[in-house]
Parts: sequence; structure tokens; C-alpha cells
Amino acid sequence: MRAVQISQLDGPAAARVVDLEEPADDGAVVIDVHAAGVAFPDVLQSRGLYQYKPELPFVPGGEAAGVVRSAPPGAHVRAGDRVAALTMLNGAMAQVIALPAEQVFKLPDTVSFEAGAGLLFNDLTVLFALTTRGKLSAGATVLVHGAAGGIGTSTLRLAGPLGASRVIAVVSSPAKAEVAMAAGATDTVPADGFREAVAELTGGKGVDLVLDPVGGDRFTDSLRSLAPGGKLLVVGFTGGEIPMVKVNRLLLNNIDVVGVGWGAWVMSHPGELERQWSALEPMLASGAVAAPQPQVFALEQAADALAALEDRTAAGKVVLRMRD
Ligand SMILES: NC(=O)c1ccc[n+]([C@@H]2O[C@H](COP(=O)([O-])OP(=O)(O)OC[C@H]3O[C@@H](n4cnc5c(N)ncnc54)[C@H](OP(=O)(O)O)[C@@H]3O)[C@@H](O)[C@H]2O)c1
Repeated sequence: MRAVQISQLDGPAAARVVDLEEPADDGAVVIDVHAAGVAFPDVLQSRGLYQYKPELPFVPGGEAAGVVRSAPPGAHVRAGDRVAALTMLNGAMAQVIALPAEQVFKLPDTVSFEAGAGLLFNDLTVLFALTTRGKLSAGATVLVHGAAGGIGTSTLRLAGPLGASRVIAVVSSPAKAEVAMAAGATDTVPADGFREAVAELTGGKGVDLVLDPVGGDRFTDSLRSLAPGGKLLVVGFTGGEIPMVKVNRLLLNNIDVVGVGWGAWVMSHPGELERQWSALEPMLASGAVAAPQPQVFALEQAADALAALEDRTAAGKVVLRMRD
């Protein structure tokens, strides 16, 4: 089979497409992969900068979609089913993968393989962030940073159907503002000067939730953009720097900073992945939540796909087409 492989930690350019042995089934669900998701943790892993450091050489990728080739007796999926699957940390950018059944989910017929490869990781994180951690209430206003990225576009697709009345997208360019509006933003504001723009849009009130996958030097202005009682959901640090909080700000305006560690949560809560998928799947199947509209790269362009995330040129969720 063909697979993406990283054998030195030189960043996206080190990703090569190679021939590897197919995995043995060993009682797992074997999937013929049609598309694989590309996410920021894959970029960090390619430089050895992620908290999880796979041994070299490794196949990157946390999620994929395709068709079940074989499944063990009693599994909830069987040969021929269209599925999305989570490898979680790495291994998904291969034409064949083998996984425990609980990491495999039947795709609604309306969701393409490319959309399916780009939804589990981010949508389940965002669902967990907005509901379990953020306690999103009906009519709430939400601000999301990095809004044209993977986590960002998931937030734009999910927040409205989960009850938000307004979802403000923070973006770094007009092209990304278009991506954000297409994904469901009600308003877009530029990253530079977002605090003033948000104050104007909300009549000085601020927003109820900030979902922040960027961190860095925007953090204090994000806290200042919260309405009293609001929450900032800490999701990631694509901006590079891990911000510090002066806790007097929390006291002065009765606001919260809330950590969102989806992977740690699902790994320590058996059955949680299935519960989250049971909440998301009907919304996807009915069309209440739109499927992602990913930017698709060919398998041979794996290095370019990873680089698009690192150099901030990606337009929406990035996905690799793994076979024709
Ligand atoms: N906590 C969790 O459980 C969890 C789960 C999944 C992912 N994450 C994290 O969420 C973050 C986002 O992941 P993603 O896959 O959505 O990434 P992505 O698709 O690359 O999107 C990230 C966005 O961040 C913005 N950004 C700002 N400064 C940047 C910089 N210096 N370099 C790159 N991007 C920058 C970009 O938007 P602009 O150019 O418009 O600013 C970009 O669209 C990552 O840190 C990831 O590790 C966390």
C-alpha cells in the first residue's frame, strides 16, 4: 500500500509517499482508506514539537474515512460499510488501516469520504468544548479564533445548530473571511483589532464564549472580549506562545478560563467517543449540521498539505485523497 511517512523531523517537507506492508487484521477492523484528515498536530509531530512523539519513521494522521474491508464477529460495522475512523495520534495517512471497532464510526450516506475524513477529530473536540466544557446555552454568542482552520470551521458549523445565536469568526485575510462565512459565521472580524470590532458588533457587551485554538498574544484581548460570566475555552496554541493569565481579570468580570483536552477526556472516559458520535451523527445525517467542505490535496501532495497548515495558507479543513 501507499502511505505518507516521516523519517526525519524536518517539518512538512520531510513527508514522503512510500510503499509499506499492509497492516495485519489481528481482530481489528480493516479499512480501505479513501481520504485522510490533516491537522495541526500532524505538523507539530513532523517537527517533533507535539506532546506525543512517535518513534521514527512513522505514518502521520489522526483520522481517515473509507470502506470496511473486514471486521471481527460482533463488531458494529461489517465489510462494505462506509466509515470514518480515528487513529487519534498517528497512522491514518495510509491506504489501509486496522483499528479497534470502538474507533470506527458509520458515515451517513450524505457525507463524502473527503468530508468524513475531516470531521471526527475537530467536530468531536468542538462538541466537547462547546457543550461539556463550555455549557453553551441557547442564544449565546460565540467568538472563534483561527476561524478558517480545522477547529475554526467545525466551530462555525456546530455552534449555531447547538444553540448559539451569533458566531463571530476571527480571521487573518479576506480570503479566510470568505471560508468562514461559507462555514457558517454570522460575522467576521480581522485578527488585528478584533477586540474593538467585537465590542462594536456586540454594543460593548462582549461574547459569552471564546473558543481559542490560537493562544499567543491575542489571549488578553480575548478575555477582554468576554461578557460578564463568559468563558474562554483553551483549545490550542497555533500562535506558538502559551499565554499567561492574570487572574485578577477573572475576578473583576466574573469570567472563566476553561481547559479543553478532548483526547485526554475520551481516553479516560470509556464509552465517551460513542456517546459523542451518537450526539453528532443525527445532526449530520439530517443536515442540521453541514458536512465539512475540505480543501483536498492528492496523496502525492502530502508535504504541501502539511505545509499549508504551517504557513497559514490552508482554506478550511485540509484532507488528503488517498486513492482514486
Ligand atoms: N484541545 C484539544 O483537544 C484539541 C483537539 C484538536 C486540535 N487541537 C489544537 O487546535 C489547534 C488548531 O488545530 P487545527 O487543526 O484546527 O489547525 P489549522 O487548521 O491549521 O487552523 C489553525 C488556525 O490558526 C490560525 N493561526 C494563527 N497563528 C498561526 C500560526 N502562527 N501558525 C499557524 N496558524 C496560525 C490560522 O488562522 P489565521 O491565519 O486566520 O489566523 C489557522 O487557520 C492546534 O493547536 C491543535 O493542536 C486541540
